[in-house]
Amino acid sequence: MRTIDWIDGHIELIDQTKLPGELVVRKVSDLDELIDDIKRLAVRGAPALGVSGGLGVALVAQQGLTGSELEEAAHRLANARPTAVNLSWGVKRVMQYASEGKERILEEALKIRDEDIASCYSMGQYGADLMEELLGEGQHSVMTVCNTGGLACVERGTALGVIQTMFERGTLKEALPVETRPLLQGSRLTAWELQQMGAPYRLIVDSAGPFLLRRGFAQAFFAGADRIAANGDTANKIGTYSLSLGAKAMNLPVIIVAPESTIDMATKTGEDIKIEDRGSEEVANFHGVRTAPEGTEAINPAFDVTPHENITAIVTDRRVIRIARGETLATVPLGPIRTK
Ligand code: MRU
Repeated sequence: MRTIDWIDGHIELIDQTKLPGELVVRKVSDLDELIDDIKRLAVRGAPALGVSGGLGVALVAQQGLTGSELEEAAHRLANARPTAVNLSWGVKRVMQYASEGKERILEEALKIRDEDIASCYSMGQYGADLMEELLGEGQHSVMTVCNTGGLACVERGTALGVIQTMFERGTLKEALPVETRPLLQGSRLTAWELQQMGAPYRLIVDSAGPFLLRRGFAQAFFAGADRIAANGDTANKIGTYSLSLGAKAMNLPVIIVAPESTIDMATKTGEDIKIEDRGSEEVANFHGVRTAPEGTEAINPAFDVTPHENITAIVTDRRVIRIARGETLATVPLGPIRTK
């Protein structure tokens, strides 16, 4: 089942705030509703946000918006969340065709959707090959953060897509998703997806990650990305940086898996990446239950930046950039999209 799609003139998306309890599909035919769904993380994950950007513009174009009205709507949509570059990338990509009319815009948005599916299979192949190269034959366990599966894309996923490919090849011993405070994408969404695919997994609390890496529970750490700067610094879900430190301390591979659309060569380093601040409420409450004293203020960055020095390799849908061997985004040429 697709996380987000275009069906009979409107957008359909899985409401991820309801998982794992309920699988609810929402029909969205209003831009403000889509923007609200993005802000409250009903639809989330960088590639799915890219598709949302494209389909959101297509939706309002189909409803008759043109010219400056279309531009204003596109601007609002592109800025619904700041860190994942894919959202503004998806909006810009379809807006290039604004003057060619609504059918051309829709065609481009559907292309983004279809390319996203193909790119996930390709990342799976590149990533699983890299694991065999780095870790050797046999089965290996992998730690991962947040949700980078089909729910973060259209189908299949980025880092979790590689884990799925390893599972299908018989090289996955066990996946160890960290629960990913405060919104629990790891336990609510990644554990749910691993269970759906029948892969072996055990859930761990975020703070157990580095210790369990030290004790040999996993042989690599995989993460997705929301924005990769030109020097390889990578913004991803809060907690990625600390897990990269834990893995680096043990000389274990830190692998970032993301489509080419997540690379932002216009952003020079991680210092220039805007990090979404999601405010105190999400930290001081969970599902309506207060978990800290009334009036407690929290610091709640939704993402952090892992410096490129901590990254072993970046796996995209078109190439593997071995950062630890001195390769860079600027020097490694694009290769083919690989199939299943
Ligand atoms: O706040 P979220 O749930 O949108 O954060 C998502 C992540 O950080 C993912 O790791 C990233 O978008 C890559 S998804 C393939």
